Amino acid sequence: MKTLIKNGTIVTAADTFRGDVLIDGETVAALGAGLQAPDARVLDARERMVIPGGIDVHTHLDMPFGGAFSTDDFQTGTIAAAFGGTTCIVDFAIQEAGGTLRRAFDTWQRKAAGKAVVDYGFHMILRAYSDAIGAEMAELVAQGVTSFKLFTAYPGVFYLDDGSIFRALGRARDIGALICVHAENGLVIAALVQEALARGDVAPRFHALTRPPLAEAEATRRVIRLAQLAGAPLYVVHLSAAEALDEVRAARAEGAQVMAETCPQYLFLSHENYEEPGFAGAKYVMSPPLRSAARQEELWRGLRNGELQAIATDHCPFNFASDKQLGREDFSKIPNGAPGIETRMSLTYDGGVAAGRFSVNRWVELTATAPARIFGLFPRKGTIAPGSDADIVIFNPGARTTISARTHHMNVDYNPYEGRTVTGVPETVLSRGEVIIENGRFLGKPGRGRYLKRAPQGAGEANPWKTVPQDASPRTR
Ligand code: URP
Ligand code: ZN
Ligand code: ZN
Repeated sequence: MKTLIKNGTIVTAADTFRGDVLIDGETVAALGAGLQAPDARVLDARERMVIPGGIDVHTHLDMPFGGAFSTDDFQTGTIAAAFGGTTCIVDFAIQEAGGTLRRAFDTWQRKAAGKAVVDYGFHMILRAYSDAIGAEMAELVAQGVTSFKLFTAYPGVFYLDDGSIFRALGRARDIGALICVHAENGLVIAALVQEALARGDVAPRFHALTRPPLAEAEATRRVIRLAQLAGAPLYVVHLSAAEALDEVRAARAEGAQVMAETCPQYLFLSHENYEEPGFAGAKYVMSPPLRSAARQEELWRGLRNGELQAIATDHCPFNFASDKQLGREDFSKIPNGAPGIETRMSLTYDGGVAAGRFSVNRWVELTATAPARIFGLFPRKGTIAPGSDADIVIFNPGARTTISARTHHMNVDYNPYEGRTVTGVPETVLSRGEVIIENGRFLGKPGRGRYLKRAPQGAGEANPWKTVPQDASPRTR
């Protein structure tokens, strides 16, 4: 089966040009002007951009957390992703307390099998570190799980001490894995939470007030230093505070191998959302929390100039009417997380490209190409090139849409961006050559998504240090 995408503006991280894309089966066969393929299905991309499908490297589907399960499973979550122009995800499998990594890997494979509609990989969350776990990490790398998330937050749940983090970093360095860190000082936060609750400060806004930016900056700096001591690269997930970005910037200037992602919620929402009437602030309870709008522009600047390497979502939806109510009397019992898998591409096109903050090529790089390189998926994913998987989005840069829970496809009863109108809409979405979204309809089949074995760090082109920050004036032809 051949498909010919005609007359589009093809955009990759490096280039913008008018032309056609010929797809043969699941992969891209050719790019060029005036391509002919009489036996191909033709998709007209006039006045549209043709971009690599988005890659969201931070999702939590069907995840147990805080007394609830995230409400999107691999079926609803990946369908919503596809509607939003994301054709590949990397989700977080979680080691059970005292459990093996193998068991967690098998559990997450079962969660995804028969359900996922786009291709997926897994990171692994470590709850502890020991020699036995270090040995298992190498087995997982052989299975394509080449990144591991550690937490300096959530004492008693995911928290790891500095010695364990240092040992895991050293092990990752030796086996070609990448350590990802949730950097907030969990012990300080626990003390602040205790003080707030003792004062009777139980409302959702105290979630943010007890997780101050300095608690994120301190942990970010500390783990960067641990990574430097171990001689290992580090990826900071969901960076939210400008103070933490200051630490990343300073370390990168010293030559530290540190990368960081931010998420749309930290670019578009702010701690003012916690002041919404009644208990509505609970919709925005996530960790790290939303920050001051006054410093958001620093994150945008970091995305533009290469201090931040990727935009992911941390999609972790909980229903407001039920799950979030667990914390009515105590903000610390509100399940942490919010939905976003469907809105990332349009929001960041709107706020990034349409608003003139960075180029369309930088947008593709931040949302697809760099995540693919960093997490061992490039060049199979993250670009449009002969031989790459035909994960492609025909994107209408002129269309506008208003975000709403009434029309979104995520399995959650609210949308944090309710009523926001954005410019830029993914219209037709192909996953490995198959049209799965067209004319506002999902055409794929649950279970068609495949598990992706990701390459280890430094293997071939999957080397994040080849990710070159782009300026705002890309080459065009
Ligand atoms: O609030 C959040 N971010 N929930 C998901 C778990 C995590 O820490 O990423
Ligand atoms: Zn986290
Ligand atoms: Zn997360």
